[in-house]
Amino acid sequence: MDNRVQIFDTTLRDGEQVPGCRLDTENKVLIAQELELLGVDIIEAGFPISSPGDFESVSEICKVIKNASVCALSRAVEKDIEVAAQSLKLAVKPRIHTGIGTSDQHVFTKIKTTREDILERSRQAVAYAKKFVEDVEFYAEDAGRTDNEFLAKVIEGVIAVGATVVNIPDTTGYCLPEEYGQKIKFLRENVKGIHNVVISTHCHNDLGLSTANSIAGIQNGARQIECTINGIGERAGNTSLEEVVMIMKKHNWMTFETGINTKRLSGISRLVSEKMNMPVQPNKAIVGSNAFAHSSGIHQDGVIKNRDNYEIIDPEEVGVNESSIILTARSGRAALNYKIEKLGVTLSKEELESIYQEFLTVADNQGIVGESALKKLLSDHLVSN
Ligand code: KIV
Ligand code: ZN
Repeated sequence: MDNRVQIFDTTLRDGEQVPGCRLDTENKVLIAQELELLGVDIIEAGFPISSPGDFESVSEICKVIKNASVCALSRAVEKDIEVAAQSLKLAVKPRIHTGIGTSDQHVFTKIKTTREDILERSRQAVAYAKKFVEDVEFYAEDAGRTDNEFLAKVIEGVIAVGATVVNIPDTTGYCLPEEYGQKIKFLRENVKGIHNVVISTHCHNDLGLSTANSIAGIQNGARQIECTINGIGERAGNTSLEEVVMIMKKHNWMTFETGINTKRLSGISRLVSEKMNMPVQPNKAIVGSNAFAHSSGIHQDGVIKNRDNYEIIDPEEVGVNESSIILTARSGRAALNYKIEKLGVTLSKEELESIYQEFLTVADNQGIVGESALKKLLSDHLVSN
């Protein structure tokens, strides 16, 4: 089986559903261009029937994107599919993403219908979308909570009418990694035609498991991951693009490959955060401001001796210039000396010892001792001694 994993970015669709994250067309086009430079395979550009603005954004994105597929979302409704197709008219590689809820929860209490009707509507939607584009992805909404036997029937039905990609969303972020992985395995073993299509993961983060679930998915045969920059998305968000990509890169024994230029991760994270007005939590993996910052004495000493003691990623690999040593009251002499030497000053052992005691007092009062406070400490100390 080919181990190339397609990266399907839905920052501009699922990500943009977040309250307060709305983007205008100009910014959506800008982000789409950056996503293409990053190397994503598919850009889900929007849900064109939802508003004239979203329709326009998808159309404009189609005009500038040359290598990636551009995807538009629709429900399993003819009018949605027609509008999605219309918005994709100028795309070099258009994809329609259509689907319907398949869990009993959705079938009986949201759509208020029967399983038979869902089977019929899913097949009809894919067959209808195929009239407009070759590349049709089907999503089984709430697949995470869908009975596997029924899910297999739905997926077999849509493959029979031409689906090229089958998306198995854990819409509510409910699954455990093993459970989600087994679901993908079950489909691979029980659905006729499954080996001719790409299986996609689409995991939400309600229990903080979206990244683990996506990885479990590809370990069991999925070959597309749907994700967003900084993990933004409905409620607790979607799978973070930067996390799954770096997991595959770091655990290269799994031999999965993506087309992502990881050096662009930090830049695109900042761009999305700024344009969407969504701050990134400092301790966010890969792209948080503390992801390569060390503040405790034991860690700082280890990193100064050899970065690999406490870092599994070279910051340059993800576009961060260097690791940082943050001076706080938890820092030790090694870190203080390291920072002082960076300022071009060499101290004797005794000088370092006496300045260290003053440093601790300042750090207890200030929290972080930045460069100017350190310079002041040094000049006060050198004057008084
Ligand atoms: O979470 C979900 O199920 C979705 C679908 C529309 C793919 O976002
Ligand atoms: Zn979603």
